[in-house]
Amino acid sequence: MRLLFIFFSLFSCQLLAADPAPFKVKNYAHLQGMEGFGDHLLQIHFKLYEGYVNQTNQLLSLLKDYSYEGQKPDPQYGALKRRFNWEYDGMRLHEYYFENLGGKGVLAPKSPLYQKMAQDFGSYEAWKKDFIATGMMRGIGWSILYYDQKANRLFNVWVNEHDLGHLAGGTPLLIMDVFEHAYMPQYGLKKEDYISAFFKNINWEAVVKRFSSCSLFEEKVQQIEERSDLGD
Ligand SMILES: [Fe+2]
Repeated sequence: MRLLFIFFSLFSCQLLAADPAPFKVKNYAHLQGMEGFGDHLLQIHFKLYEGYVNQTNQLLSLLKDYSYEGQKPDPQYGALKRRFNWEYDGMRLHEYYFENLGGKGVLAPKSPLYQKMAQDFGSYEAWKKDFIATGMMRGIGWSILYYDQKANRLFNVWVNEHDLGHLAGGTPLLIMDVFEHAYMPQYGLKKEDYISAFFKNINWEAVVKRFSSCSLFEEKVQQIEERSDLGD
C-alpha cells in the first residue's frame, strides 16, 4: 500500500512539474456544406477561432513568467490576467458552438433534455422562443442554454462579449454565437435568418450528451455519498 502511495505521489509530482501542452486548434471543416452557412462565412469564423487559440497560448506563456516570480502588482500583469479570460472564453465558446452544429436540428421529445425544457419553461417551444429572444438582444455576445446542477434548472443566458455574464457552476449546453462576424458576412442585418439557419443545423446529440454528463456526474456524487454513509 505504501509503495503504491509513493508511486502515485511521484507520478503526481511529475505531472505537476511538466509544462501543460499548448491548446490546439481543432478542425471543424466537416461543417462546411451546412444549409444556411456558406463556406466563406465558416472559413472566416474558423480563422477567428484560430486567433483565440493562439492568443490563449501566448498569454499563458507570458503569464508563466510572472507565476514563477510571484504575483506582481503592476498594471501589465493585471492587463494580461484580464485579457486571458476573454481569449480563453473566446476559444472555448467557439469550440462549444462548432461542436453543437452539424446536426439535423431535431431534438427528440422523449429525450431528458426536451422533458426538462418542458418542465422549466412550460414547453420546448417556449424555451426556444426565449432562447431566440436572448440571441436577438442588441449587442455582441452569445446566447447560452445553461444547466445549473445545484438548482436542477435550465437557464437561457446572455453572455456579453465572451467573458461577462456566465453562470457560476453552470454547465453550458447549447451555445449560439451572435457576434456580428457569425452572420453579417452572409446575412447582413438579418440576424433572425441566421438564427433560423442555426436551429436547422443544431447537433442535438452533442447537446444532450452535455446534459447527460451532468446527470451522470450527479449520480456519481450520490453513489460516493451513499458509500461514505456505509463506511466504505
Ligand atoms: Fe464567433
